[in-house]
Amino acid sequence: MPTQTTSRPVAPPSVPEANGASHRFDGVDLQALAQRIGTPLHAYSANAIRQRIGELKAALDGLDAIICYAVKANANLAILQLMAQAGVGADIVSVGELRRALNAGIPAGRIVFSGVGKSADEIAGALNVGILRFNVESLDELHTLQRLAKTQEVTARAAVRINPDVDAQTHAKISTGKSENKFGVSIDEARRWFAGRKQLTHVQLDGLHVHIGSQILSVEPFRLALQRVAAFWRELEQAGHPIASIDVGGGLGVCYREGTDQPVAAADYVAVIREALAGFRGRLLLEPGRYLVAEAGVLLTRVIRVKPGIERSFLILDAAMNDLLRPSLYDAWHDIVPVVDAARPRVTYDVVGPVCETGDTFARARALPECSAGDLLLIKATGAYGTSMASTYNSRPLAAEVLLDQGRYAVVRRRQHFEDMIAGEQPARHWETT
Ligand code: LLP
Repeated sequence: MPTQTTSRPVAPPSVPEANGASHRFDGVDLQALAQRIGTPLHAYSANAIRQRIGELKAALDGLDAIICYAVKANANLAILQLMAQAGVGADIVSVGELRRALNAGIPAGRIVFSGVGKSADEIAGALNVGILRFNVESLDELHTLQRLAKTQEVTARAAVRINPDVDAQTHAKISTGKSENKFGVSIDEARRWFAGRKQLTHVQLDGLHVHIGSQILSVEPFRLALQRVAAFWRELEQAGHPIASIDVGGGLGVCYREGTDQPVAAADYVAVIREALAGFRGRLLLEPGRYLVAEAGVLLTRVIRVKPGIERSFLILDAAMNDLLRPSLYDAWHDIVPVVDAARPRVTYDVVGPVCETGDTFARARALPECSAGDLLLIKATGAYGTSMASTYNSRPLAAEVLLDQGRYAVVRRRQHFEDMIAGEQPARHWETT
């Protein structure tokens, strides 16, 4: 059945709007919140996240499917707890993420482990707690999994991550499904793994996995990748290799630029999955990250000063690339909304942070209502790959994080103290030789 790509994703509740000095997000006054907690500050709407989970679940209705949230998008324990409460599992890429997911109450039986560089210790740790599935990305990893499972006298459940050689039509740095990328293996190689399946005494190789990239704004790359995976699944079944699960990865894009980005609605995305995998009787796994949390987050920041420049003025904020790396790393656009009277004249700024790098720039030549020192601004859609990619560069402490929920807020990460930042460092007192 052909897929209609007409429905739009539902906007998160109470998306912050630029109507003067009072901005509410999930019922919380952001001006008052910034006053109370200070800036820079990451705020997440619990309801926006629940709404996205609900939309995806509704689209999956009738399918045997598990949503495994990609923890790397936002690993805060409170966010993971929201996922756990909604019955959402986790896609992890390290033992650190495994521990966070378990701490938050996500059961091991709903956790999948992806990544090209799983160490032997990490594989052993994940086997030990009995995770749902390993998404295996190389023959060496498969052999390591077999060896470690044998030692522990358990059977590991595994899927092969297919690299379908599909262009996800996204930024090169977040594209993962081209043959030149480090991820997954070719269908030819995967075929050989299945042919040699009998030697895998402690690995149950009966799953397929694919993830072609992130911030994908069209269904076509998904369709193409899934068609390739589906053809391979059918071939394997005919060759006597039953497939119990197909993991379709993550990658659903979101709106970073209002009026320009047109994300795919969950229903349209799932329609493509249904169509490509028609007849598949096993379990579906999905690994969305950004889709569930990006638009649920805003970064609150204040203007430190406005500095006149030769071409245009610099709006210097108290947030920087260490709080939100995406604009520096990917030239990513994030909408910026000053929490000021919208009637102010519009001025074109370069919006920058205090870090000593030219790349510490959130926006170039951005037209905004005129701002002055002390004004509050919102940088939008920062819930995914914001704090999870944050650093203390320039010895700037990690920002505070709060969860908003229907007019109430809870601090879910306190602002880092200087002492936390230097914990573990020490003068070179005890010299040793190897
Ligand atoms: N599954 C696997 C195996 C992944 O590698 C990723 C993301 C996901 C799922 C979730 O993808 P999502 O649904 O969030 O697109 N830092 C970049 C994004 C890197 C994504 C890495 N892998 C950014 O800020 O755009």
